[in-house]
Amino acid sequence: MLSKQMQQALVEQINKEFHSAYIYLGMEAYFENENYKGMSAWMNKQVKEEISHAMKFFRYVYERSGEVSLDTIEKVSVDYKNPLDVFKAGLEHEKFITSSIHGLYDLALAEKDYGTQELLRWYISEQVEEEANFEYIIAMLEKSGDNPGGLMILDEKLGARE
Ligand code: FEO
Repeated sequence: MLSKQMQQALVEQINKEFHSAYIYLGMEAYFENENYKGMSAWMNKQVKEEISHAMKFFRYVYERSGEVSLDTIEKVSVDYKNPLDVFKAGLEHEKFITSSIHGLYDLALAEKDYGTQELLRWYISEQVEEEANFEYIIAMLEKSGDNPGGLMILDEKLGARE
């Protein structure tokens, strides 16, 4: 059984993961508006990943005989300056989520909640991968600058995301 404090913290994280999905859906909309079809497809995969992160927490709360409540999801933007602006905003958001996951892990350590620690170790690794993905794309976008040929090649490459 989860402590009340841990349950509340996990429920807040479910909201943050759905908010992440919504942020990336806003980015997908921006790429659709600008006809970057590959980047739009990449973001669509990201949206689905975030929903799966939320659902993994959701299932876990019930596995531990807890209950979830579902709060409002904050409004998001569909306006960005360019692809680099989008991925930089994505990286900043992932850093925020990483610190939120670390906060949950600190709480699980303090409570000696070993089951939740085990779950969170998966998210800690996932966050390393998430930040690395955004950092790599930012580096590629910085190399291509405003070169339309470079942007088109990158758009095609990102569209092939598994
Ligand atoms: Fe659910 Fe992108 O972290």
